[in-house]
Amino acid sequence: MPLSSIISTRRSVLISQVTLVARISSGVPRMNVQSPPPSILKIESRTQYVSPPFGPADVHSDPLVQFRQWFANATAPLNAEQGKSSSTNPTFSTKSKVLEPEAMSFSTATASGIPSTRMVLLKEVDLKGFVFFTNYTSRKSKEMIENPHVALGFYWKELRQQVRVVGRVEKLEEEKSDRYWKSRPLQSRVSARASLQSSVILDEEELAKRVKQVEERFGVQEGKDVDIPRPEIWGGWRVIPE
Ligand SMILES: Cc1cc2nc3c(=O)[nH]c(=O)nc-3n(C[C@H](O)[C@H](O)[C@H](O)COP(=O)(O)O)c2cc1C
Repeated sequence: MPLSSIISTRRSVLISQVTLVARISSGVPRMNVQSPPPSILKIESRTQYVSPPFGPADVHSDPLVQFRQWFANATAPLNAEQGKSSSTNPTFSTKSKVLEPEAMSFSTATASGIPSTRMVLLKEVDLKGFVFFTNYTSRKSKEMIENPHVALGFYWKELRQQVRVVGRVEKLEEEKSDRYWKSRPLQSRVSARASLQSSVILDEEELAKRVKQVEERFGVQEGKDVDIPRPEIWGGWRVIPE
């Protein structure tokens, strides 16, 4: 198996640089893999999945309306008391029924149909579709440019619920990408500027150097927000269900 087909934060395999930037800056320790893994992995656990009854009569005729309804349920506070202390943005509340309901698997494929999947975060569901943000030079973006057919999947473990969306992508309007970029925390804007997604980096030092260069270029100082312009290679995509 080529190393480039594996995404991991372990050393010596392809490193997701955004993940790594976040790991460096938050001081998360590196993974420690000491003992060799078993040569054959058998998963013996069995989970009994019990879900409430569900049929065609329970589904709205407009899938986007249906999704918004399901998402609202997933982000609803666990109980009324917790709701009072939840964040004002329910999407990021750790007290909602589902932890990180906006995390979705996102599958693209090359023009010849070779698929690949990774996780991304849903940021908006507008009247046309599902919006997320990424680097336009990443593997996923390159694949979307040559083949607009994509699929995404949500698994809301706490609700025993999964949702699949199949559709085609279009680039998000520039002004929407600008608006979202400005709303991101400073560290995320610096990370996005410093990282070339989907490419191999030599070591963490190299990445830390790139972060420092961005901070110096834009005059980032502790405790002070700075206007860092959105790079052309970073922005949104919209998945329009079909
Ligand atoms: C929970 C989770 C959420 C993520 N969200 C995003 C995201 O919104 N945008 C993004 O570009 N990468 C996100 N990533 C990193 C991607 O999974 C991936 O590693 C990176 O985008 C490079 O993917 P590619 O090489 O397939 O293009 C996320 C990773 C995790 C684990």
